[in-house]
Amino acid sequence: MNTILTGVRVNEEPTLGNFLGAYVPMVNLSHEHAKDSQINFFVPDLHSFTTPVEHSKLYDLTIKGVKYYIAAGLDVDNPNVHFYRQSRVPAHAQLCWILDCFTPFGEASRMTQFKEKSAEHPDAITVGLFNYPILMAADILLYDAKYVPVGEDQLQHLELARNIAIRMNNKFNQELFTLPAPEQEQIKFMHLKKALRIRSLTDPTKKMSKSAENEKSKILLSDDPKQAAKKIMSATTDSEGVIRFDMINQPGISNLLTIESLLTNRDIQDVISDWAGQTSYGDLKRKVADSVMHFLSGFQERVNAITDDDVKAILEKGELYANEIANNKLLQVEKAVGLYK
Ligand code: TYM
Repeated sequence: MNTILTGVRVNEEPTLGNFLGAYVPMVNLSHEHAKDSQINFFVPDLHSFTTPVEHSKLYDLTIKGVKYYIAAGLDVDNPNVHFYRQSRVPAHAQLCWILDCFTPFGEASRMTQFKEKSAEHPDAITVGLFNYPILMAADILLYDAKYVPVGEDQLQHLELARNIAIRMNNKFNQELFTLPAPEQEQIKFMHLKKALRIRSLTDPTKKMSKSAENEKSKILLSDDPKQAAKKIMSATTDSEGVIRFDMINQPGISNLLTIESLLTNRDIQDVISDWAGQTSYGDLKRKVADSVMHFLSGFQERVNAITDDDVKAILEKGELYANEIANNKLLQVEKAVGLYK
């Protein structure tokens, strides 16, 4: 059985970018594959404070993060679907240390996200931030995950996990880890031509990021639907004056078309054809604002119907499963590196 695995950090309220780039594809994939694969969702809570966070909110955000997946349509009653917290499965941190010792410093230093985040938080460049991709590699390799649906920004980390696995398999002359599929195969598995990247509403050359300081740049899943609609209405566009899908010259308009297609579950080509040649950016924004408002109201209603106790029961069950699989793999690695016989 293949394992499909992904995680979304809960350091802050997730954005519409996380929802469309990670939650929806993963939930769709879980429906498609739960009969023949293990589907692992987890909350990378140890990754949450690689950049500064409000620690008093972390636990509640974790519980809410699980509710978001359920509200997005995840079938948590399926026996092949597992949900757990990274911090409740100690093998993640233990394997991370071992992988650290097989990751050249130079290779880890090339990670684009580390460079970007260091620039965003120059006063808080921690060893944890540097080590982030290696812990992510442990998250993946512990479960022999072949498919890891993630957005574009995480593909480099996935490649690093693959490289570490290849290096260790070669060094210890055994198939210690299943190799995560290479980038193109991952993208194909997600039924995409290119990994998804929802853009910031204020600077559409950048991704919509939950840690961005400008509130207008992002739509949060907890946003008041009317406020969210206003953010769409004030989204940065361009001065071309005609609606086209052109990520290079019209990233703002293209981003709105992408959001519209994903929220209304329509093919992007159909949405592009509907708007082709039209000139009123206001009309497009009103349509997208309406879709966002409609989506958020329904979604938030579903989230509010799930109790904290429901979530705790799901996590406790998932953590029993995850600890068993992860501990077996850790032991195999500990034996390979000579810690045990
Ligand atoms: P995080 O929380 O930063 O992002 C979670 C997921 O959301 C995707 N994403 C986006 N997709 C499209 N448009 C955007 N604007 C956008 N912003 C974020 C990210 O690509 C990601 O898929 N490091 C991971 C968490 C993680 C993980 C793992 C994932 C830790 N360990 C192991 C998979 C496997 C991350 O970026 O989380």
